Amino acid sequence: MLKDKKIVLGITGSIAAYKSCLIIRQLIKKGAEVQVVITPAGKEFITPITLSALTSKPVISDFFSQRDGTWHSHVDLGLWADAMLIAPATASTIGKMANGVADNMLITTYLSMKAPVFIAPAMDLDMYAHPSTQQNLKTLQSYGNHIIEPGTGFLASKLEGKGRMEEPENIVACLEQFFATQQSMAGRRVLITAGPTYEKLDPVRFIGNYSSGKMGFALAHECADRGAQVEFVCGPVSSAMQVSHPNIHRINVESAQEMYEACMRIYPSMESAILCAAVADYAPETVASQKMKRTGDDLVIRLKPNPDIAASLGKIKKEGQTLVGFALETNDEETHAQAKLKKKNFDFIVLNSLKDEGAGFRTDTNKISIITAEGKKGYPLKSKAEVAKDIVDELEAL
Ligand code: PMT
Repeated sequence: MLKDKKIVLGITGSIAAYKSCLIIRQLIKKGAEVQVVITPAGKEFITPITLSALTSKPVISDFFSQRDGTWHSHVDLGLWADAMLIAPATASTIGKMANGVADNMLITTYLSMKAPVFIAPAMDLDMYAHPSTQQNLKTLQSYGNHIIEPGTGFLASKLEGKGRMEEPENIVACLEQFFATQQSMAGRRVLITAGPTYEKLDPVRFIGNYSSGKMGFALAHECADRGAQVEFVCGPVSSAMQVSHPNIHRINVESAQEMYEACMRIYPSMESAILCAAVADYAPETVASQKMKRTGDDLVIRLKPNPDIAASLGKIKKEGQTLVGFALETNDEETHAQAKLKKKNFDFIVLNSLKDEGAGFRTDTNKISIITAEGKKGYPLKSKAEVAKDIVDELEAL
């Protein structure tokens, strides 16, 4: 899987830097080509001579070569690589990556990277558990980066035993696993909806819901990582929610009507659709052109039904196309999910319940069941990135 793969290995200032030699040895043994980019602090822990001897390439650390003054192009590195791995990644580098602080060659290379990025954090538990570090890791994950942690491989939802860098053989195994699944959806086109819809009342107010878009973003990145071309129709989410994968084409919409129009236009040329958006079922019948003023009386707002995007796509679904929906329930979960599965002509429906702690809106985790006409498969609470893998595995198995 790693044969002829071009890997940029970023090394930062951690005691675990010596383990990057083992990572290099294993990558090269498996046929990969490795280019090391090291931070100034990284050089305090391991010498560039050792690293260049192992990779048979000069190590890049500065913006200009110390030898002849030529410029090291981070843009070229970003285009050259099949993957970037930062191992070990310190809290400082993770913070700079999350916030775009481009003050060394490693960060500029990261910001120019066109290939998937893997990050293996290494620090003590207190630093790791600090809300700043956790927030930065979540930010990086929401940008589609892969966080590799001890035990689980990819980012886990619990903190215990964390901070220590994952063992080199497991880091290399994560890369292998990634490349093994990477092309499984190559050439496939997938429509994914995410986020809430806002239904305007007047120029300053709307009817909306709590969807953050996190589940939909995780699905878009998972499909893109497997080689699919993703048409990503996204409702109004926080500006911190960004896609960075070249396979994802994002279309921003605000209302259910706009989402409906985009989906109806796009779906006929797709092989699959995953409808994760929390779409408002109703919108105000009229939208006031000026801000509505407070009066002493009750205010009655008349709502009209929005189009049911899923049911409309279910009606135009052709042979060879697949359609996956979600059901967010608060009671009689399975009965409601079963009814939606049939009514909307889904191939399967992903049920999440607000009764389950850590599931549903805004959380970084979710607990789902996948329901088909044949039966139900339950899954434990997992990070939304891991849940996305389970859903896309199921889609690929259809
Ligand atoms: O965004 P996050 O904060 O990460 O939260 C994720 C989530 C909870 C929003 C997500 O996991 C989820 O459950 N999404 C679907 C929420 C929802 O609106 O469910 P529903 O049971 O009301 O709708 C059933 C299905 O029909 C969904 O696939 C929905 O996208 C679709 N639908 C609903 C109404 C409508 N008018 N058109 C639709 O297409």
